[in-house]
Amino acid sequence: MLQVDNLRVSYGPIQAIKGLSLSVNRGEIVALIGANGAGKSTVLRTISGLVRPVSGKIIFLGEDITSLPANKIVQRGIVHVPEGRRIFANLSVMENLELAAFLRMRRDRKGVVADFERVFALFPRLKERSKQRAGTLSGGEQQMLAIGRALVTRGQMMLLDEPSMGLAPILVQEIFRVIMEIKKQGMTILLVEQNAFAALKIADRAYVLQTGEAVLQGEARELLQKEEVRKAYLGG
Ligand SMILES: Nc1ncnc2c1ncn2[C@@H]1O[C@H](COP(=O)(O)OP(=O)(O)OP(=O)(O)O)[C@@H](O)[C@H]1O
Ligand SMILES: [Mg+2]
Repeated sequence: MLQVDNLRVSYGPIQAIKGLSLSVNRGEIVALIGANGAGKSTVLRTISGLVRPVSGKIIFLGEDITSLPANKIVQRGIVHVPEGRRIFANLSVMENLELAAFLRMRRDRKGVVADFERVFALFPRLKERSKQRAGTLSGGEQQMLAIGRALVTRGQMMLLDEPSMGLAPILVQEIFRVIMEIKKQGMTILLVEQNAFAALKIADRAYVLQTGEAVLQGEARELLQKEEVRKAYLGG
């Protein structure tokens, strides 16, 4: 579904991604794991058109999207949930969802309403708080809203950047449970996580990034067993 070929990305003199290739098949959860600064967020930002690569190709559903602007890439069906839960703090929960559905509202009101119900079924807490100002939600609830917004945008592929960041263990479990559920409903997911253990548990395949390069890749289940992965990312 997605193919990244020999991608190079620089921020001025800093080479953040140094010739990375990866692929994501339809229906998979693929995890990108690696230390702080390894380049994980940069990969997602480049796929979604927020950062331009120096070289390399990004192919989505057989078409080259490397030089498309970000809004066109969303229209093709790639929805990015960035690090740090970008939501509209001054709008209510419901208004945040409505805004995410804005483009679809006119031609597919029924579908949008069904999607709101779907989001509220996945995250009952959001339903209880639909009128609450999003900025006053807890961190975990804001993360749920960010994922809810992505669902309502109706992509075919979701790029999730650190969905568990800063959450209490119980909420981390909750978020990962929902990611599994979203996969079951047919979504393809590229997941960036510091929480390598949790990510590998739910992923089909994974890539381990080190200073802009993939140093390991394979079935998530196999990577979980690997000595070097356990030592470096799973705390032994
Ligand atoms: N806008 C920017 N300008 C300059 N350098 C940047 C910029 N964004 C990222 N970098 C650098 O690129 C490298 C990769 O950053 P990136 O955010 O992709 O890492 P990451 O793997 O997502 O890290 P983390 O786990 O801390 O989120 C880092 O060295 C970072 O300092
Ligand atoms: Mg990051």
